[in-house]
Amino acid sequence: MRVLVTGGAGYIGSHTLVELLTEGHEAFVIDNLSNGHEKALSRVKQLANKDLGFVKGDIRDRDALDQAFSEFNPEAIIHFAGLKAVGESVEQPLIYYETNVAGSVELLKAMDAHDCKKIVFSSSATVYGTPQYLPLDEEHPVSPVNPYGQTKLMVENILKDWAHDGRSATALRYFNPVGAHVSGRIGEDPHDIPNNLMPYIAQVAIGKREVLQIFGDDYETRDGTGERDYIHVTDLAKAHIAALGVMNEAAGFAVYNVGTGQGTTVKELLAAYGKTIGRELPFETVQRRSGDVASSVASPQKANETLNWSATLSVHDATSSSWNWQSQNPDGYGQ
Ligand code: NAD
Ligand code: WQD
Repeated sequence: MRVLVTGGAGYIGSHTLVELLTEGHEAFVIDNLSNGHEKALSRVKQLANKDLGFVKGDIRDRDALDQAFSEFNPEAIIHFAGLKAVGESVEQPLIYYETNVAGSVELLKAMDAHDCKKIVFSSSATVYGTPQYLPLDEEHPVSPVNPYGQTKLMVENILKDWAHDGRSATALRYFNPVGAHVSGRIGEDPHDIPNNLMPYIAQVAIGKREVLQIFGDDYETRDGTGERDYIHVTDLAKAHIAALGVMNEAAGFAVYNVGTGQGTTVKELLAAYGKTIGRELPFETVQRRSGDVASSVASPQKANETLNWSATLSVHDATSSSWNWQSQNPDGYGQ
């Protein structure tokens, strides 16, 4: 299949491209490189030993979209492009609504104009808000607690309205993506100080940051620290291909959780990373981060059954691949 990948130069996009190309699909990327890296795309090409088209452009820019659609004539879209920092979305909500919501509408308009009828969208477990029960299944009420989460829910609702008359849309609600490609050639390289736990730990391990701050150890969990469902980025990448595989003219709109069903606490993840690198990593406990929940764990049953997809990689696979990437590329892609 010819797949246009928005945000393909980013963390999850680059890993998905490797799997797509390796499976024999053709791919083309549109990315404005605001948080992505052109070098990631050249490494994707080397890893898959395949060619890959690229337009540096913004999904809010209809001319850039038209250029990508005209050059590549995609049969499907995987839509990663967007902003993802929760704290920043509280500070600057309008740029989140403009990029994530208006940008997605522009993309759908371009799809209609170029007769492209399939889209897989990066949604997030954040749409559930504070869990009312665990594990979270797709029937759990949605109630995002920040603008970033609102944008994801809004786009899901727009896709639901759009997906008729032969159009199909699948929203994947990712839990916590972690790890890197097994080769260590591509990985997560945020342009700013990492917001998320795993890339922060990786930077402590490589000596770029002194100490991990643990945001609260008085939660109602096994050891008092926050519990999350960490999904290996390679497993997550494969979920997109599984989703494309079941989409057809009658599919309409569908939503799936993408997680492992297993929870890991902050202290457990830190200990696992320490075991991977053979030394304990420094931490200090500070107060809770506002907006955090105690636990978030997926029920991945719907994806397991309907997409015939399940996570196969462990937390150990995630820490060792993350370290492989971080130690081979201490400065990331070096931009
Ligand atoms: P990322 O920042 O590494 O990748 C996003 C890519 O989109 C970047 O390469 C960036 O340059 C590009 N981009 C941003 N705005 C753009 C625009 N206006 N036009 C064109 N390109 C643009 O992030 P990621 O972790 O790979 O996340 C990919 C998607 O998955 C995002 O939509 C994110 O919200 C979603 N998601 C991520 C997580 C996570 O924890 N990483 C969890 C759930 C959902
Ligand atoms: C995980 C755990 C923190 C950093 C966020 C978004 C969510 C999704 C994934 C995009 C929590 C603790 C973290 C640190 C810490 N993104 N922590 N010290 O908050 O579950 O989810 O990223 O869709 O929408 O909200 O992930 O990695 O930030 O935190 O103690 O320096 O690690 O308190 O318990 P989170 P995270």
